[in-house]
Amino acid sequence: MTAAESDGSAHPGQPAEPERAPPAAWVHPSAVVDDGAVLGAGTKIWHFVHVCSGASIGPGCVLGQNVFVAPNVQIGAGCKLQNNVSIYVGVTLEDEVFVGPSAVFTNVMNPRAHVNRRDQFAGTLIRRRATIGANATIVCGTTLGEGAFVAAGAVVTKDVPPRVLVQGCPAEPAGWRCDCGEALAGWPAAAEAACAPCGSTYAVRPDGGLDLKAPEAD
Ligand SMILES: CC(C)(COP(=O)(O)OP(=O)(O)OC[C@H]1O[C@@H](n2cnc3c(N)ncnc32)[C@H](O)[C@@H]1OP(=O)(O)O)[C@@H](O)C(=O)NCCC(=O)NCCS
Repeated sequence: MTAAESDGSAHPGQPAEPERAPPAAWVHPSAVVDDGAVLGAGTKIWHFVHVCSGASIGPGCVLGQNVFVAPNVQIGAGCKLQNNVSIYVGVTLEDEVFVGPSAVFTNVMNPRAHVNRRDQFAGTLIRRRATIGANATIVCGTTLGEGAFVAAGAVVTKDVPPRVLVQGCPAEPAGWRCDCGEALAGWPAAAEAACAPCGSTYAVRPDGGLDLKAPEAD
């Protein structure tokens, strides 16, 4: 299919625009991207980042200053990782995840300097469109549901249902957040929720999280 057929932008009689290759990833000269790492189109890698071999970072991501990505880590499309974030082995980020500055992931539950626990890494899964606030800590073995929202400075010790806001130490549920980021009224007793600014509507799940009904926020 030509570009003209795909977007309908060419006028009759005019030559079709040539297909353009997607923009390559951009890497600041101070960053280190090891052989075997994969960077998606349009991804930006800022100062002093280190991406290890076997890591895969999807298209359209931004990795801020001093981010570290461990070997074989998977990061989806459209993620934003702010300064000073380390993504360790066992941590997986789906698409459009936001990780605030200096947020901390972990991968060993009971570390001791003199005991090798490299075969006991506990996984952490951050589902699509989740947000992790600045300086939050995610204790390993947990899953943040789709669109879950972790407040700045929170310490997450258990799974967070979709679109639930958690805060404090240990983090406790404190509300619902729309996929657009706005607070949703009705927490915790309502059976459904709606976002006035973006029009999204949600059904409450048995675990207290929200499933999107319609339409999806941009
Ligand atoms: C959690 C958060 C979303 C709440 O925002 P908000 O709805 O505007 O909340 P408010 O400022 O109205 O505060 C509501 C209450 O929650 C408390 N609160 C706010 N943020 C909190 C936090 N991070 N941890 C614990 N309590 C918090 C407030 O003190 C207030 O308590 P009160 O009712 O007893 O006075 C926001 O404070 C936050 O942490 N955002 C993440 C910011 C961030 O890390 N950005 C990273 C990119 S720069």
